[in-house]
Amino acid sequence: MELIKETKRLEKYLVECGIGSRREIKKYVHEGRIKVNGEITLDERIHIDEKFHKVTFNDRKLEKKILRYYMLNKVSGYITAMKDTNGKKTVKDLLPSFLDTRGLSPIGRLDKDTEGLLIFTNDGNLSKMIASPDNNCSKVYYVELDREITDEDIINLQNNVKIDDYICKAAKVEKITSKSINLTITEGKYHQVKKMIKAMDNKVNYLKRIKVSKLELGDLKFGEIKEIKIEDII
Ligand code: URA
Repeated sequence: MELIKETKRLEKYLVECGIGSRREIKKYVHEGRIKVNGEITLDERIHIDEKFHKVTFNDRKLEKKILRYYMLNKVSGYITAMKDTNGKKTVKDLLPSFLDTRGLSPIGRLDKDTEGLLIFTNDGNLSKMIASPDNNCSKVYYVELDREITDEDIINLQNNVKIDDYICKAAKVEKITSKSINLTITEGKYHQVKKMIKAMDNKVNYLKRIKVSKLELGDLKFGEIKEIKIEDII
């Protein structure tokens, strides 16, 4: 039998194993932490064939990780954590018991009383990419307000609101009614939407995330989870 050689760059293979971003991988290779067939390699651009080459990281054999992605319509009353914290209900309690949750984490945080779109994955690179403000990844929130929003509030919200000591990046506001808006932000600071609205002397009465990057919550029912593909998100 003749074996067909299927080569790929070491760097690409290491990304598929989920050990880090391209930049981190380059660093690991240059630090001599990657071995191919027992030999340290200092060049991430070499080509390897998974059938013939044994690749190790810190002397541990690497396995290709099956990357998984899920979307949940979070309901109010659950904290965004995968571990029970003092008996409080967590989003893990919303996941079906048959789902293998090992390695899965939510991307970003929603407050206990916030509802809507929460993505779970074991793909650390995607989590970092979505969370990093440098990547301008949009998150859209449907916000119900305590008092009517003025045109001046809308202009202010769109133009670098100051919360605590932080100047927010430009946001986008779509007015729905006099007391409700869709707010698009590209960061994920702690309580960011609530603080931005507070800076307008207003208050959030209800908050739901309806979109992250390309992925829309759509008609997913409350508490429901659905398996998705990375292409649905970015
Ligand atoms: N901003 C908030 O204030 N709360 C959330 O849950 C998400 C964004």
